[in-house]
Amino acid sequence: MKNYTTLADIEDLESLIREARGLKSKNTESELGKGKTLGMLFFNPSLRTRLSTEKAAKLLGMDVMVMNADKDGWALEFEDGAVMNSDKAEHIKEAAAVLSQYCDIIAVRAFPGLKDREKDESEQVMNSFKKYASVPVVNLESATGHPLQALTDAITIQEINKKERPKVVLTWAPHPKALPQSVPNSFTEMMQNLDVEFMITNPRGYDLNANIRKNVRVEHDQEQAFRDADFVYVKNWSSYDEYGKVLDVERDWTVDQEKLQQTDNAKVMHCLPVRRNMVIADDVLDSESSIVIQQANNRTFAAQAVLKRILECLK
Ligand code: CP
Repeated sequence: MKNYTTLADIEDLESLIREARGLKSKNTESELGKGKTLGMLFFNPSLRTRLSTEKAAKLLGMDVMVMNADKDGWALEFEDGAVMNSDKAEHIKEAAAVLSQYCDIIAVRAFPGLKDREKDESEQVMNSFKKYASVPVVNLESATGHPLQALTDAITIQEINKKERPKVVLTWAPHPKALPQSVPNSFTEMMQNLDVEFMITNPRGYDLNANIRKNVRVEHDQEQAFRDADFVYVKNWSSYDEYGKVLDVERDWTVDQEKLQQTDNAKVMHCLPVRRNMVIADDVLDSESSIVIQQANNRTFAAQAVLKRILECLK
């Protein structure tokens, strides 16, 4: 694997999931990454991505450098040919090239602005790092995708699933703030690559990008969608059509135990962080239905498998 910026970078998904699950079961350290450095740049906050990816790199013997690029770094200019007379002190051309002198892999988190759909969809930050870095680039959640999370989700479903073709439902849930579509986008893409019956449920006005949904069924009645589900993946996202807007905080979409009665004893997933009693009720998060902690634990093994594949290409 040369980069991991989108799910399209995965050559063989089954083999990558197998690798991650094998790393989890062996729970061993390796020297593959000895003498190599992972540099992680965060333009936005993180708990899981930051710590699980650092842990994964260290399990592979790598050194890790982390920078809160939004607070500690120079403000970066991404426009080609810009006259740099604003507050942006450094161009991505130098920044990515210099980072490539210190790091063997660069990992970047950069959320969307949620104001300009075309700009967000251009993935300017991630693609600029890819263009100007001379080392592999890993996506720690970008404007439109969160491929490490989606790989984690696939691993988690596979390790828990007991059915030949489980029913997986991605449900929108309320949230007071405008959130990116990155996690639901990548989850939707990932589910189309697994042998599952996949369905999305969301209020009208919240349909995800049709180019990502493709032929996935969208059901606007949450109760109907939950019927016989084996996995319920809960996530809020802002509107795609009325780009970046919170149309209505529909509190009756909060996932609670009563709603889960429709399912086939479904396991409930969420990428975290989750707002309790807004997105998912306490009676779910504090019950056996919730697998969010197991899911978060798997972030380490997803990252470890991806970094291992990239390191194997660097040899
Ligand atoms: N799921 C996830 O990406 O968590 P963090 O934002 O805490 O990294």
